[in-house]
Amino acid sequence: MIRLQNVSRTYLESSGRPVRALSQFSLKLAAGSMTAITGPSGCGKSTLLHLLGALDRPDEGEVEVDGILLHHATEAQRTRYRRETVGIVFQFFHLLPGMNLLENVALPLILAGMGRAAATTRGVELLALAGLSEKSARLPHEVSGGELQRAAVARALVHRPRLLLADEPTGNLDSTNASRVMDLFHAVHRSGLATIVLVTHSPEIAAQIPGRIEMADGGRVPLPA
Ligand SMILES: Nc1ncnc2c1ncn2[C@@H]1O[C@H](COP(=O)(O)OP(=O)(O)O)[C@@H](O)[C@H]1O
Ligand SMILES: [Mg+2]
Repeated sequence: MIRLQNVSRTYLESSGRPVRALSQFSLKLAAGSMTAITGPSGCGKSTLLHLLGALDRPDEGEVEVDGILLHHATEAQRTRYRRETVGIVFQFFHLLPGMNLLENVALPLILAGMGRAAATTRGVELLALAGLSEKSARLPHEVSGGELQRAAVARALVHRPRLLLADEPTGNLDSTNASRVMDLFHAVHRSGLATIVLVTHSPEIAAQIPGRIEMADGGRVPLPA
């Protein structure tokens, strides 16, 4: 499903100094797997997710997801990949404040051209999966952070992506809300809805995830089996 081969990505700081975010990084993940990415701040975790989400390109190396060679792909292919293959959850939810949860979850489908009725039906299904049926008419400021994040997971899944990426999705939540959000990711994994790659700072959360990759300074530290 996912193959990175000798991937390097260097950023230029505003001062012009180069920062090597990923260096000759390689990785293979099977379809349907759930993997935690851990490692100290600045070691390249978000850079890795951006490459997997086709939000960024590597300077060197190969990034293949679901048979698509993202390092070779044209902008049109990469746009299509972002719309169809991948769903992304960020630390700070990014729900639109003027729309209720159901409208937020259905919005990507409407923007992709689906009719309002079909998009709403699909949105209702996803909110049920996220345990938010009763909250569907609430505005984002009327629910808890954990509920917001579960709505964001529902929105990320609404177009049936094969890959779900999450960058510190519990980083802004208390432990009760964090564990409800993680229950949802585990449920998604068990139902085989998507391959999941989740960045986390929390050793407790990483310990509950079947696959774990620890990164250090742009590279991978192999974990003992
Ligand atoms: N757009 C950017 N411009 C300059 N430096 C960046 C940029 N994005 C990331 N970096 C640098 O690359 C390194 C890795 O960043 P990142 O992937 O965000 O790490 P992590 O998510 O593990 O904290 C850091 O040193 C960071 O400061
Ligand atoms: Mg990060």
